[in-house]
Amino acid sequence: MFRGLIFVSFLYLGVGWVAGLQRWGTQFGQAPLLERFFWKTLDFAYPDAASRQLAMLKGEFIPENALPVGIEIWRNKLFVTIPRWRNGIPATLNYLSLDTNRGGSPKLTPYPNWAQNKAGACGSAMTTAYRIHADACDRLWVLDTGTIGIGNTTVQACPYTLNVFDLTTDKILRQYRLRPEDINMNTFIANIAVDLGKGGCNDAYAYLSDELGYGLIVYSWEQNKSWRVTHSYFMPDPLAGDYNIGGLNFQWGEEGIFGMSLSPVSGDGFRTLFFHPLSSRREFAVSTRILRDEQLSQNSYHEFQVLPERGPLGHCTSSVMDEKGLQFFNLIDQNAVGCWNSLLPYGPQNQAVVVRHDDALIFPADVKINNGLLWIISDRMPVFLISTLNYTDVNFRILTVPVKDAIAGTVCENSPWGYVSNSVWWEK
Ligand SMILES: *[C@@H]1O[C@H](CO)[C@@H](O)[C@H](O)[C@H]1NC(C)=O
Ligand SMILES: *[C@@H]1O[C@H](CO)[C@@H](O)[C@H](O)[C@H]1NC(C)=O
Ligand SMILES: *[C@@H]1O[C@H](CO)[C@@H](O)[C@H](O)[C@H]1NC(C)=O
Repeated sequence: MFRGLIFVSFLYLGVGWVAGLQRWGTQFGQAPLLERFFWKTLDFAYPDAASRQLAMLKGEFIPENALPVGIEIWRNKLFVTIPRWRNGIPATLNYLSLDTNRGGSPKLTPYPNWAQNKAGACGSAMTTAYRIHADACDRLWVLDTGTIGIGNTTVQACPYTLNVFDLTTDKILRQYRLRPEDINMNTFIANIAVDLGKGGCNDAYAYLSDELGYGLIVYSWEQNKSWRVTHSYFMPDPLAGDYNIGGLNFQWGEEGIFGMSLSPVSGDGFRTLFFHPLSSRREFAVSTRILRDEQLSQNSYHEFQVLPERGPLGHCTSSVMDEKGLQFFNLIDQNAVGCWNSLLPYGPQNQAVVVRHDDALIFPADVKINNGLLWIISDRMPVFLISTLNYTDVNFRILTVPVKDAIAGTVCENSPWGYVSNSVWWEK
C-alpha cells in the first residue's frame, strides 16, 4: 500500500532537509512542499514590548506551553488555534496576515481580539478552540470546548459553545451552547465539519465529533438547535491503540471518532460525511440526509457504511475533501499526508502518500485545502504531551503544496474530474 508514492518520498528525503535552509521556499520532496512558517516556540503580537514582558512576568504568557493544533485559511488570514492545555496561553484563536508575513516565525494576533480570548470568561470569550472551519459564506465556525488542561488535568471552565464569526466584520454572528444532553462525562470534541447545502448560507449544519464520549453532535444553523447521534462505529478499535510517533511509543486506546470530511453535494442533494475513529485504521461514511434529520439520525443504524481499512500505519486524525471529491488525510504514524480520489473505491490500492518528511512532518496535526493549495501544520504533539519539546529546534511548521503537484503521478490524479453517485465508494 502507498507503494508508488513511498518510493518517490524516500527518493527525495535525501535531498530534502538541509540544516540552516529550513526557510520559506525550502522544498522537501518531489512535490514542491514549501515550509511557509516555522517556530521554535510561538509568540504573540502584543501591542508593545512592555506589555509582552509584563504578561510573561505574570505567567499569562509562557512560550513553551503553547502548541498550535489547527489551521484555517480565509482570504489573507491564516488562522492558528492553540488549546489551553497548560497555563500561559494568552489566546486560543489567532491569525497571521499572509499579506505582511511572507515567511519566518511571525507573531500571532488574537482573533477577533484579546478580550474575546480571555480564558474562562464564559459567554464573552473563548477558552479553547481546536479545529476550525471557514465556510463559503465568509463565516468562521469555532467550537469552544471551554476547557483548561488536558487529560486528567482538565477543568471545564465554561460550557461547550459553538461560536460563528462573520469574517468580513469580525463580529460574532451566533453563539450556541451545547445542551447538557449533547455531551456526557467523557466528552472531548476537537473537530468540526461544516455542511453547506444547496439552499444557501442558512442551509448549514455543523458536525462535532466527540472523540472520548463517542458521539456526533449535529447543529442546525436554520433551526438553531442541536442533537446527538450515537453509533458503535464512533468507537475505537481495541487493536489499534498502539502508536509509534516521533521516536515515542505510547497508547491512545480510548480515542474514538475524530476526523471528518464532507463529499461534494451529490445527485440527491446531500453530501456524504466520511469519518474515522483515531484509534482505528478504518473509514466510515454516512449521508448527511440521515444526520440532518433529527428523527432519522436517531434510528438509522444501517445507513452507516463501513469502508475498507487504510492498512498498517493508517492512524489518522484530520482529513479534508475538496469540491472535486479529492480527500487528503494525515498519516500520523508515517509523518505523511495521504490522498484518496473518491471517484475510486476506498482502499489502500486507491490511496497514495503525497508528502512525507521524517523531521518536518512529525505529527501533521491539521490539513486544509484553499484555492488549490494544500495546507499542513505539523506540531510534534506526542512529544509535547508525553515527553518535552526541544525548544532550540524548530517544532511547529506550516507548509503548503499545490494540490495538482501533490497528486501528480499518483492514483489520486484520476481524470476526468466529476462526481458520481455514492455507490462506487464501497461494496455493500
Ligand atoms: C494524571 O496523568 C498523568 C499522566 O498520565 C499521571 O502521571 C498523573 O499521576 C495523573 N494524575 C492524577 C491526579 O491522576
Ligand atoms: C439560539 O438558541 C440559543 C438557546 O439555545 C439562544 O440563546 C440564542 O439566542 C439563539 N440564537 C438565535 C439566533 O436564535
Ligand atoms: C535540540 O535541537 C538542536 C537544534 O536542532 C540540536 O542541535 C540539539 O542537539 C537538540 N538537543 C537534543 C537534546 O536533542
